[in-house]
Amino acid sequence: MKAFVGKDVAQAADYLKQGYTVGVPTETVYGLAANALDLIAVAKIFSIKERPFFDPLIVHCRSIEQIADYVIHIPDWSKKLAEFLWPGPLTILLNRNSRIPDIVTAALPKAGFRIPNHPLMLELLWSINFPIAAPSANPFGYISPTKAEHVLAQLGEKIPYVLDGGACRVGLESTIIGEENGILHVYRKGAVQETRIAELTGLPVQLSVNPVTQSTPMAAGMLNQHYAPHKPLFWGNIADYLQQAVPDETAVISFTTNYNEVAKENLFVLSPAGNLEEAASKLFAVMRQLDERSDIKLILAERFPEEGIGRAINDRLKKASSRRSAS
Ligand code: TXA
Ligand code: MG
Repeated sequence: MKAFVGKDVAQAADYLKQGYTVGVPTETVYGLAANALDLIAVAKIFSIKERPFFDPLIVHCRSIEQIADYVIHIPDWSKKLAEFLWPGPLTILLNRNSRIPDIVTAALPKAGFRIPNHPLMLELLWSINFPIAAPSANPFGYISPTKAEHVLAQLGEKIPYVLDGGACRVGLESTIIGEENGILHVYRKGAVQETRIAELTGLPVQLSVNPVTQSTPMAAGMLNQHYAPHKPLFWGNIADYLQQAVPDETAVISFTTNYNEVAKENLFVLSPAGNLEEAASKLFAVMRQLDERSDIKLILAERFPEEGIGRAINDRLKKASSRRSAS
């Protein structure tokens, strides 16, 4: 049985209330949702994704008032961020209370909370009386889905329903942040920048996204290889690679550059106008498309400008290419 795809929020809510998992849209990427308070439903997420239990899930809520029911307290710095950046592509780690089951956080004392900014997802959250645990709706380690059809293609046999909210506006996973000893740490880069977080909170902000390879990373997004296509992807200065590559079998992902030596159907200029947000929103769909094309054997991706969401784009490309590329 393949999942149904539709825009019926009441249908999605019914499945969640019955303990099923469903695909849901957010502004970042699609999530694989379950009732965060239902241990068995949450366990299904891990088996469907083949995700290790050490990798904690983000808890999606509709309001700060709802989050207050599941944390020990809401520190001032997080109130500021919530006020200005939620609903939005930011996940905040907060000390949870015992109402959040251990399975959701891999038994860690903190849980990641996020109020997502997508009208259908918010409508769904308002139509149920529990928070939604949801990782990205892809098999563990693969590229996150940014369209309902991506979820259907990979997990469609394992879930009853995908709530179709169209293409994700941001297209990269949320920025993850938490506090340790008065310093705010960014554990995953996303659309929200450290400068913005520092400005809003007045606290020092530190990037802590260095890759970890042990079996219990703080965030799986920190694993060396993640978000990866099955095909080899080289990221960096691609000019040298281009000269050696077999033209018919090589695809290029660029920001604005038209590489004349690359065939038109193999060249993906993510934003001819030079808009990094536009490039970010298209990146994962293009990576998927190339992974599925039988004529393509190698993917070359440019280094994007290290500014704004370009930093998160480079982070994902680096992880997609880890251990296979030079520069
Ligand atoms: O944009 C997003 O964040 C999307 C949408 C669906 O909300 N979700 C997402 O979830 O990317 P996931 O599970 O694919 O990635 C969430 C990351 C994981 O790497 C996980 O390890 C980390 O967040 N994380 C979640 N809870 C955590 C916690 N309590 N402590 C440390 N890391 C946590
Ligand atoms: Mg993920």
